[in-house]
Amino acid sequence: MAAISGLIRVMEKAARKAGGRLRRDFGEVEHLQVSRKGPADFVSKADQAAERTIWDELRAARPDWGFLFEEGGTIEGDPTKPRFIVDPLDGTTNFLHGIPHFAISIAVQEPRLDGKGWGEVTAGLIYQPITDESFWAEKSRGAWLHDARLRVSSRRHLDESLIATGIPFAGHGNVAEWSRIYQSIAPQVAGIRRFGSAALDLAWVAAGRYEGFWEAGLKPWDTAAGCLLVREAGGFVSDWKGRSLPYCDEQILAGNDTLHSRLHKLLANALKD
Ligand code: IPD
Ligand code: CA
Ligand code: CA
Ligand code: CA
Repeated sequence: MAAISGLIRVMEKAARKAGGRLRRDFGEVEHLQVSRKGPADFVSKADQAAERTIWDELRAARPDWGFLFEEGGTIEGDPTKPRFIVDPLDGTTNFLHGIPHFAISIAVQEPRLDGKGWGEVTAGLIYQPITDESFWAEKSRGAWLHDARLRVSSRRHLDESLIATGIPFAGHGNVAEWSRIYQSIAPQVAGIRRFGSAALDLAWVAAGRYEGFWEAGLKPWDTAAGCLLVREAGGFVSDWKGRSLPYCDEQILAGNDTLHSRLHKLLANALKD
């Protein structure tokens, strides 16, 4: 049974409050009003309201910590203290289309000891408001779904494996590169899914629902909590060169030990040609 820390309770309270709003706003026309940050890059009233709720809750609980928000950007805090990395609504396109697959992602990142920027991610929480699932992890304390310990999948064979990905879309990503990787991986595996929330893709790798995940062009708020979840669930996360970074946002590959290395070989072969 998990001894849930005060910090995780704070993050969960913020996520649940914002998630309750998202649940209520889901399908309401007013909250579908969107502006565009770029091609196919939408921000709805719901994104903004969720971010505001999370900001109010977290700031009240940790007034001197900094923030990196998807919508609001960086808010400096005490440089010796951690910062929160927040995606208030991961899966906005699903939300806007009435598809009940989206999440809130909150991570905690420590300042580097030499004072130069940001280091380890030490806590992460991904909350799925529609299913009321709260995936969380703390460094060296494991990954959990509520109070049940999570382990990555124990499947070892590619042809039994279900793999998640993110597909490039208007203005985002390299379609030719993605296609080469897809052609290398798809014929070997039991299935490929693109459900539209990178945070949940990673939470589901941690939960053993998917055996692996790859995507490019993500941001720290998409991946920071999810990378910690996968690692604390016994899995591996790297960039496409195999480097284990705090959050592999530019290029990410996740899986259990066997499948991470198998997928890495397939991916590297696809990119070599
Ligand atoms: C998006 C989702 C999606 C991924 C996109 C992200 P958003 O985040 O994680 O799965 O493919 O690249 O931008 O914009 O819905 O928070
Ligand atoms: Ca977005
Ligand atoms: Ca996102
Ligand atoms: Ca978002």
